[in-house]
Amino acid sequence: MTDPSLDLDLFCDEALTDPFPGYRRIRDTAPAVHLPRYDAWAMGRYADVRAALSDWESFSSARGIGLNDLANAATQGMIIATDPPEHDRLRNVLAARLSPKAIRNLREDIERRADELVEPLVAAGSFDAVNDLARAFPISIVLDLIGLPQDGRSRVLGWADAAFSASGPPGPRTDAAFPLLQDQLAYLSSIRPDQLTPGSMGRAIYDAAAAGEIRQESCVPLMSAYVTAGLDTTINAISNAVWYFSRHPEQWDLLRRDPSLIPAAFNEVLRIEAPVQFFCRVATRDVVVDGLRLAAGSRVMMLYASANRDERKWDDPERFDITRNPVDQLAFGYGMHGCAGQGLARLEGHSILGALARRVERFETGTPVRRLNQLIRGLDALPTKITPAA
Ligand code: HEM
Repeated sequence: MTDPSLDLDLFCDEALTDPFPGYRRIRDTAPAVHLPRYDAWAMGRYADVRAALSDWESFSSARGIGLNDLANAATQGMIIATDPPEHDRLRNVLAARLSPKAIRNLREDIERRADELVEPLVAAGSFDAVNDLARAFPISIVLDLIGLPQDGRSRVLGWADAAFSASGPPGPRTDAAFPLLQDQLAYLSSIRPDQLTPGSMGRAIYDAAAAGEIRQESCVPLMSAYVTAGLDTTINAISNAVWYFSRHPEQWDLLRRDPSLIPAAFNEVLRIEAPVQFFCRVATRDVVVDGLRLAAGSRVMMLYASANRDERKWDDPERFDITRNPVDQLAFGYGMHGCAGQGLARLEGHSILGALARRVERFETGTPVRRLNQLIRGLDALPTKITPAA
């Protein structure tokens, strides 16, 4: 039998603007589909993606999670591109600072910051939901938590965007993003541990190295994991939330009437618009996926965004419905590499939705401007007018 194959271009402007028809073709073709343009396979069905993510021995991250050799070499040693036992050493350092208990201690501060940010925006009556709300919030929180010096902070956001895009297939978009990934790593390498706020997440990384828990060379890659993974992801989730609620006012009414729906609503925003579209794995041996054989060495895109809209799993997946409570959606990944920062991301998302729910009756959004990135999906601008709550 010949391998199922599609000549899909997943990275042209049209596909990056609306990737979902391509994902559907992948899902409808086979459990995994060879994409010759990228010399990679794409896996798009929920059950297969989830099973592969929980089998790190067959689907390794250590040969890189991107689609080009340069980025896979540059990200070597980053937590996201490791297997056990190295992965577990690095993850332990982050886990201590991102544990449910550690996150609980941040709740009051983050909720207060959400109120302080939202109040003047609501008073103004109109704002850009991307720049003024979704970007402003995680930047202020995450960079403080990492303890970064003020100097250089303003450049961090552009770097985070590029650090994702740099892992796309070889081509002009990757060429444009790659130098920025290198700038980010150079900037992080230039920071001395004593410049990081004492007690911060960043400082804890260097403390762990000083205590011999991790190697000194792991510090910059771990800093990069925080700076990259903690920003555009949450930023896109928050701007997508405003965009979806503006187009589904009846869902906003539901949430406002019953704020206990906020966690389910945040999950539904992540399900329908996964901020991270995919990361790759490499098959360490011949593996059979739902009857289809993938040869050892195959690079496989794990399409979280497709799995989250798989008709085989979700009833009417294109429908935005905050009452479906999709706790098992895959926007945070799954298994060993499942998002280390999801507690923090949820706290940020819930706090913003809560602050908005108390003050906003209706969102009216203009035409969104999409930001085309090869790995993450989100908006660059979303003009928003609000009707304040009575
Ligand atoms: C809505 C927001 C977020 C989304 C959608 C998201 C998504 C993801 C995904 C899909 C992965 C899995 C990678 C894989 O399968 O290889 C991941 C891993 C990770 N995320 Fe997040 N993330 C978010 C927020 C955050 C935040 C706020 C932080 C920290 C400040 C963070 C830190 C990490 C780290 C360190 C990893 C690597 C974990 C590992 O390899 O063991 N993320 N994230």
